[in-house]
Amino acid sequence: MSLEKKQKVYILSIETSCDETALSFVTASGGLEKPKFEVHGDVVASQIKLHQPYGGVVPGLAKRAHLENLPLLFKEIVDKIVVDSRLRGNDKEKGGNDNAGEADFMNRVDFITVTVGPGLEPALWTGIEFAKELAAKYGKPLVPTNHLEGHLYSFLVSKDVDSRLRGNDNAGIFPAIALIISGGHTILLRMDDLTHFKKLGETVDDAVGEAFDKVARLIGLPYPGGPEIERLAKDGNPMAIDFPRPMIGHKNYNFSFSGLKTSVLYYIRDLTKAGKSIPKADIAASFQKAAADVLIKKTLRAVEEFGAKSIMISGGVSANRTLRALFTEAIEKKFTLKKDRPLLIVSEFSTDNALMIAVSGYIDYLRGKKYKIEANGDLNL
Ligand code: KG4
Ligand code: ZN
Repeated sequence: MSLEKKQKVYILSIETSCDETALSFVTASGGLEKPKFEVHGDVVASQIKLHQPYGGVVPGLAKRAHLENLPLLFKEIVDKIVVDSRLRGNDKEKGGNDNAGEADFMNRVDFITVTVGPGLEPALWTGIEFAKELAAKYGKPLVPTNHLEGHLYSFLVSKDVDSRLRGNDNAGIFPAIALIISGGHTILLRMDDLTHFKKLGETVDDAVGEAFDKVARLIGLPYPGGPEIERLAKDGNPMAIDFPRPMIGHKNYNFSFSGLKTSVLYYIRDLTKAGKSIPKADIAASFQKAAADVLIKKTLRAVEEFGAKSIMISGGVSANRTLRALFTEAIEKKFTLKKDRPLLIVSEFSTDNALMIAVSGYIDYLRGKKYKIEANGDLNL
């Protein structure tokens, strides 16, 4: 079914690529020039507790949890929207049954968008099948979208950015350097505008979030390790241990985090052999600083090379407040004149969520970009 280009569209978005089941209901308008989003419902069911005993995400368990969560979250959104609209007195059929509520809600939806990759395929399929069923039942178009685009575009739903962008048609932020740092990816991109971007580099081994998770496990912290490392690092000295900064001096924009994780492993092993105690907080702080140094150095070098006006960091690791502060500090140090300083943009929607999927679905819809409606674990940007 072809989508007619409406001024304002109501989007239902679905995300199940990893261990968060998430749905959102959003109004999007403004087109590619001035995309604007109004959030009516946004729900996430985290599976952290489920996977914690295993120290990481177990795909089969994730799949089962998504299957259980999807109808519950969908009902939560339907109920909220139907109740909200009844309160506003917009609804003709008061006190209808559940199906009437669902049908009434789906009447408002212009299209459904769902993550098709990258991620865990058994998990991705649950969202795709759920979306396909709803689309078929109510005759709605389905827009498959890319999880990485979701992270990349998550800045568009950031409150802070929204108010700063409204005045200048997005022009003040491009060209931009975007850094996607999550549990599965570490990618640096140059963005010339919303739809033209080029990958500059990426990790050649572990993603930075993966390194946080693995180092956390080495010092006995639970999954997901990122927030735990950040918390523990506050009690430690980031200069205590001189962990390597892999590829920091390389001319390219690639990253490597596996060697850094291995040096943490060796450091702990050597101390254990010598019968010494393990300075966990110092390890957390020093590891976090080493990882941040590499990310910041390469990002700022790209800013300089391409004359970028902004830096957009997204993905779960960008939730790290220490990293954000280090970025701000490094920007001020490198660009001493305020007028030369790139704007640091960090969405508050950094970990997996469905709002970012509504945003990338909207952009794919506007561009007529068509991914296959099937799970693709390795889908790239
Ligand atoms: O974007 P995300 O929710 O899922 C993926 O697409 O992978 O990212 C999850 C990753 C995990 O590795 C988690 O440890 C990390 O983001 N993370 C953090 C923080 N919060 C989440 N890493 C460092 N500091 C944090 N505060
Ligand atoms: Zn993600």
